[in-house]
Amino acid sequence: MIAHFILTIDGPAGVGKSTLAKRTAGALGVAYLDTGAMFRTLALAVEKNGKELRGHALTDFLQKFAFALEGVGAGARLLCNGRVVGDEVRSEEAGMAAARLAVLPEAREVLKDRQRDIGETADLVAEGRDMGTAIFPSAARKIFLDARPLVRAERRAMQLAVMGQHVDIVDLAERIRERDDMDRNRVIAPLRPAPDATIIDTSDLSVDEVFAKIMETIGRRPE
Ligand code: DC
Repeated sequence: MIAHFILTIDGPAGVGKSTLAKRTAGALGVAYLDTGAMFRTLALAVEKNGKELRGHALTDFLQKFAFALEGVGAGARLLCNGRVVGDEVRSEEAGMAAARLAVLPEAREVLKDRQRDIGETADLVAEGRDMGTAIFPSAARKIFLDARPLVRAERRAMQLAVMGQHVDIVDLAERIRERDDMDRNRVIAPLRPAPDATIIDTSDLSVDEVFAKIMETIGRRPE
């Protein structure tokens, strides 16, 4: 097995993970793995299926979905069963559904295998909640991004607005708080920094400043 370079970026919703992970992957010329998009895709598929699935039935259902990466950096695309995963998974409802699915051990097991398979095929920036703790504990470098809850809600609202989804900020802050609770308090692979992660509070930093800190952490100069 070839040891690939893996940089993990974990953190709660709305902290700027995707923006920074894409940019860092671009600067390093490596692939970008958005594991939240994997949970979102499967959560929407489970919802569409309609029936409440648990245990082996859930595992069997989830095993039908294969994931692959195409391209590098900001141009990287996640494919599910050969189809590009796009903005259809980016609503806050899909995020909540993903957080609900993510507490189920069957879903975490299936995606753990998928994520590690991808990590064995390419150098990666892997973004999620448990990349540094559970999926790639021996990753070369680990970053944990955090920010104050209101700042995260404002950033998320701006991202959603860009996609034409306008939401009430107070309502969104409440949903993010609920999602944080689910992510931090689940039994398996809860959201928390790995002991060897560099923690960056992004609340009062610009994207460029956070990017510079990440590059500094991994011993590169930001271009
Ligand atoms: O990063 P995101 O907002 O796209 O993630 C959506 C949800 O998926 C998140 O609230 C919890 C779950 N998730 C997870 O449990 N583990 C990951 N590695 C990535 C996402």
